[in-house]
This record gives sequence, C-alpha cells and structure tokens, in this order.
Amino acid sequence: MTDFEDRLSPTVRAIPPSGIRRFFDLAATTQGVISLGVGEPDFVTPWRVRDACVDALERGYTSYTSNRGLPALRRAVARYLEDRFRVSYNPDTEVLVTVGASEGIDAALRAILSPGDEVLIPEPSYVSYGPCVQLAGGTPVYVPTRAEDQFKLKASTIERFITPRTKALLLSYPNNPTGATLGERDLEQIRAIVLKHDLLVISDEIYAELSYVLPHTSFPSLPGVRERTMLLTGMSKAYAMTGWRVGFATGPRAWIDAMVKIHQYTILCAPIMSQMAAVEALTKASRERDEMVAQYEERRRLVVSAFRRMGLSCHEPEGAFYAFPSVKETGLDDEVFAEELLKREKVAVVPGRVFGPGGVGHIRCSYATGVDQLLEAFERMERFLEKLDDIRAEREGRAPSSLGGARR
Ligand SMILES: Cc1ncc(COP(=O)(O)O)c(C=O)c1O
Repeated sequence: MTDFEDRLSPTVRAIPPSGIRRFFDLAATTQGVISLGVGEPDFVTPWRVRDACVDALERGYTSYTSNRGLPALRRAVARYLEDRFRVSYNPDTEVLVTVGASEGIDAALRAILSPGDEVLIPEPSYVSYGPCVQLAGGTPVYVPTRAEDQFKLKASTIERFITPRTKALLLSYPNNPTGATLGERDLEQIRAIVLKHDLLVISDEIYAELSYVLPHTSFPSLPGVRERTMLLTGMSKAYAMTGWRVGFATGPRAWIDAMVKIHQYTILCAPIMSQMAAVEALTKASRERDEMVAQYEERRRLVVSAFRRMGLSCHEPEGAFYAFPSVKETGLDDEVFAEELLKREKVAVVPGRVFGPGGVGHIRCSYATGVDQLLEAFERMERFLEKLDDIRAEREGRAPSSLGGARR
C-alpha cells in the first residue's frame, strides 16, 4: 500500500495544523500550568440555562429539529438581534441555527465560493478563516492590521488588496486575537468600499456582547449592506456556552437557502437540547450575561495595566477577552517567549504569529481566567522578565550577565 498521505486530498494536505493546538497540548501535559491560552469563558453556563436543558431531556426532547432550527429559537434570535443590534431578520426565511459560529463560517463560504474566488481576511485573525476559505475552494487574501492603528482594519488597506477575483470580505470584530473592534465611523468607510467593489461580507460578530468601550455596531445595520451580508453570532462567548455548539447565521434569503442546503446534507440540525437551552439564555439570562461581561471588563483593566507596569507595550483591547501585548522589547521572539514562559514559569500564552504575520512579536493572553489566577500569572511573568538576561544568554550560549534582570 502506498503512503496514506498520497491518498489524502491535496487541499487538505496543503492546510497546516493549527499552531494554537500545539501550545494547548504542551500546556495540558505540564503540571501546575496557569493557562491564558484558551479562547473560552472560564464561567460555567448560567444555572437557569443548564436547568432548561435538564428539563428538556426529562420531558423527552431528544429528536432532530427542523433543519433551520427550532422555530422558537429562530424567533428568539430575531428578537434578540433587533433589540441588541437594531438589525431585523425574518425568523422563517433569514435565520439558520448552526453548530456554533464555526459551522456558519464554513457554510457561508461554501455557499458563495467558486474555485479561485478570493476572500479578504484581516490579519492577525482567528485561525479558522483561511483554512475554511481553502476548504471551500477559494483563496484567502490577508489584509494586514497594524499595532500602530491598535490593529483596527482600515478601509484604505482593504482597497489595496481588491482584485477582479475578490468575492467577499470577512469582517471579525471584536477581534480574536487583538481585541480590536470597529466603531461606526470605521465601519462606514468599510461599507463604502464594499458597495464600490460590489463585495459580499461575512461578518463574524461572535464577540459583539463583549464590547467595553463603544456600543457594538452590527455591520448589516448600516444602510444598504444588509442584503449582501451574512451575520454570524452565537451562544459560545457571551453566554459561556462553548460546549453546547449553537450559533446563528442571519442574512438574505437566497444566501441562507443555499446554506440550508449544505447544512441539511452535512449536519441536519444543531442538538435539540442545546437549542432549547439557547432559547432560555436569549430570553431569560441577560442579567447573568451582563454580570459575566462586567467581570471581563474588570479583568481587562487589570491585565492591560499589569502588562504596561511590566514594561510590555499593550494597546487597549476594546472587546472580546484577549490582550495582545508586544514582547519585542524583551529581545525574544513571540514563539521563544511563549515556550520559555511555559517551561520556566508555567504560564501558557499563545505566540502571536499563529494568527498571521502581523502577530509576530506579540502574545495573546486570554483574560477569560479568574482574577486570582491572573494575579498569580502576572507574578510569574514578572519573575520571568527579571530573568530575561539569563534566558537570552542561555539561548545564545554565552555566560549570563552579572546584572541579571535587564530588560531590553
Ligand atoms: C472570532 C471567532 N469566531 C468564531 C469562533 C467559533 O465560535 P463557536 O464556538 O460559536 O463555533 C471563535 C472561537 O474562538 C472565534 O474566536
């Protein structure tokens, strides 16, 4: 038998494994690690939501649902988006309940891409976008964002990357890993480019509720773009429901119909008990949601000031639950920094380069971690920074300086 590699699809072979996973695996096999690496809430799903699921199971709700999702959930989603983000969708024709926003990203792309179509993706960004574009037969085209602009996506930069093959723009704000978000003025300029070049937009707003500085503006709420935008939201982040796997794709009818075709043959439906829990969360758990958001906000301040105190420059992350400080001042590259920090002080962070070349020299630190853990992590990081000179010397194979903790 030939090597199995030869039998695999060239498209799949061309996709590198996720760089984040490698760090999770390293962290998971080391005792006593404080992880600032994971991108999910440390909170357990609010009790009333779990209770609604238990109740659904006790009442025997264990079947498939309609492909598009439970009508009660689609109605709840439409009401929620209207109340929170002033964007309205018809629950019968313009809402699809997906298995997390993840499925929404995949189905939205597969519904529109032909081989060779280009999709603009801001970078640094969530690691799934590029591979999903490739799996859908398209070509990812990365649009850089820069630390000098607080990693905000600029309309003028987007325009530089548009070609006759550009089919869609993927927006992602608040952003993972940078925490950058886009305000109404930024979005207005992006809207003008989208209309000028007749682009479709996939707007991943999974962190919408986690906006600390500006009220979140949903892209399809702007004039004239709703009919060309697929909005992706879901339960994972704001309601601490990552494991339930429920997300929502909302958009123009023809695009949703095409996604329903993919979804009905590949997924069938999201789990019924999770959908019932999501109805409870969207209609009755706003207080619990807001309490969690308030805690993230408190931690965000703590984290940013801790990094600045340590001498690492850190732009203000305005949303999500990540800080993305620079480690360039330490003289270590982000990958070495993350590896040494894990090895010496047992703190796991993610090197920025896994999110794209714009992330080189930064580390992603999630503050979806309790305050006590965060404080302990910062103590360990300070200790690590004090030993920097020795670490650099050791890596370069020279004798440590007697000055010890000098930071570059
Ligand atoms: C930007 C972004 N989009 C989508 C997802 C996936 O979310 P879900 O759990 O709804 O599939 C994540 C998860 O980390 C994310 O960071």
